[in-house]
Amino acid sequence: MTNKKYTFQPATGKLGILTPGMGAVATTFIAGVIAARKGVAKPIGSLTQMGRIRIGKRTDGKNPLIKDYLSLASLEQIEFGGWDIFPDSAYEAAVKAGVLSNEHLASVKEELHAVKPMKAVFSEKYIKNITGPNVKTGTLWEKAEALREDIRKFKTEKKCERLVMVWCGSTEAFCKPSQVHTTMEAFEAGLKANSEDIAPSQVYAYAALKEKVPFANGAPNLTVDIPAFIKYATENGVPIGGRDFKTGQTLMKTIVAPGLKSRVLGINGWFSTNILGNRDGAVLDDPANFKTKEESKLGVLDTVLQPDQYPDLYANLYHKVNIEYYPPRGDNKEGWDNIDIFGWMGYPMQIKINFLCRDSILAAPIVLDLAIFSDLAQRSGMKGIQEWMSFYYKAPMAKEGLYPEHDLFIQSMKLKNTLRTLKGDAEITHTGLDYYEDKA
Ligand SMILES: NC(=O)c1ccc[n+]([C@@H]2O[C@H](COP(=O)([O-])OP(=O)(O)OC[C@H]3O[C@@H](n4cnc5c(N)ncnc54)[C@H](O)[C@@H]3O)[C@@H](O)[C@H]2O)c1
Repeated sequence: MTNKKYTFQPATGKLGILTPGMGAVATTFIAGVIAARKGVAKPIGSLTQMGRIRIGKRTDGKNPLIKDYLSLASLEQIEFGGWDIFPDSAYEAAVKAGVLSNEHLASVKEELHAVKPMKAVFSEKYIKNITGPNVKTGTLWEKAEALREDIRKFKTEKKCERLVMVWCGSTEAFCKPSQVHTTMEAFEAGLKANSEDIAPSQVYAYAALKEKVPFANGAPNLTVDIPAFIKYATENGVPIGGRDFKTGQTLMKTIVAPGLKSRVLGINGWFSTNILGNRDGAVLDDPANFKTKEESKLGVLDTVLQPDQYPDLYANLYHKVNIEYYPPRGDNKEGWDNIDIFGWMGYPMQIKINFLCRDSILAAPIVLDLAIFSDLAQRSGMKGIQEWMSFYYKAPMAKEGLYPEHDLFIQSMKLKNTLRTLKGDAEITHTGLDYYEDKA
């Protein structure tokens, strides 16, 4: 059975991936793509590069690589660009980030050197713990216009057919939507009036949308998820998504919690703490910036466990999240989870998870997949919130009135079924009856 509803343009020409923020995550992403092109390393963790998708019945034996199944931009077609408050090239920034070995860096040095950050839109009101010289001046409106000009110039100079933007900048201070975020007119008036309520990341998102460039938000700050942008993106055919790359502890949480819930085991406490010492950790050391991260991390368990529907199991769950800035560890984060669970007749048990992860190594393939899939979405005429990419986010955006889906396995099924639908193949339901009940 096929249900061909979408048609998409083939991925011809070059795809430019623009990252506001060229720190640990962005440079690890760029270095990895170049290393993969050269055959120096494999793009492990990237579904678009290494994942497969089953088509038809299990007995059909059809399991192509996703990149062979749909027309996706290939690694060879990608051009890199970005902005940062520090003028360091991607090579210098990668060396400072300390994520990759000297050997890997040496293998991609020349290409990384060629990627130089454009001048950033920055505000110390939103990020206090860092300051840099590579910034634009003028009113917010002038800065937004300058960003739009950067985007157009990059596209022309690099001869790109299409662009996508993935926010890889530091986490901004917590803020709630206000009047300037309600409509595009209000936002533009806010830009002209230099409104304090407009965060730099929102200026990038604005510039991207106006240039019809899909925007994905890898940080937890309020950025593209404001009413003005959601409406504009939907009306103007621009895919958007966010927020906060799902790596490390939250990834583990959305793997373990759905498993415990599916076996209807109770949980009354989940304590998560971790230490990290990179620049991201330094920014998160400010309570206002940590609050943004905390909000994004805390939402996960509630939606996976649905305590309102399972009060005996989850209504008394105490969920605590903590991040400590600890420079000696650099990008090599260590996370501890203590989970207090209970089973048959209420008997308590404990689970301890100690994850010695590498933040940027987990985030880099997400940047790549979000860029490639956002481009596919745009070529397919999909617009506005791309819920099918929830798989990659800690706090996924969803249409008003829908709760976000956090369960990694539901997210994975959603993503793959969307790809099947785009291609015109039947969705896979995993009912389990098809092979045993002769419906003929
Ligand atoms: N690494 C992970 O596992 C992970 C997971 C989820 C989310 N994130 C988020 O991704 C983002 C990047 O993480 P990172 O480890 O690369 O951090 P980083 O500090 O190494 O890099 C961020 C870069 O953004 C730059 N920057 C800040 N404000 C900017 C602006 N307005 N315009 C342009 N550049 C700006 C900084 O100068 C810095 O170089 C952070 O917000 C982080 O919270 C990372």
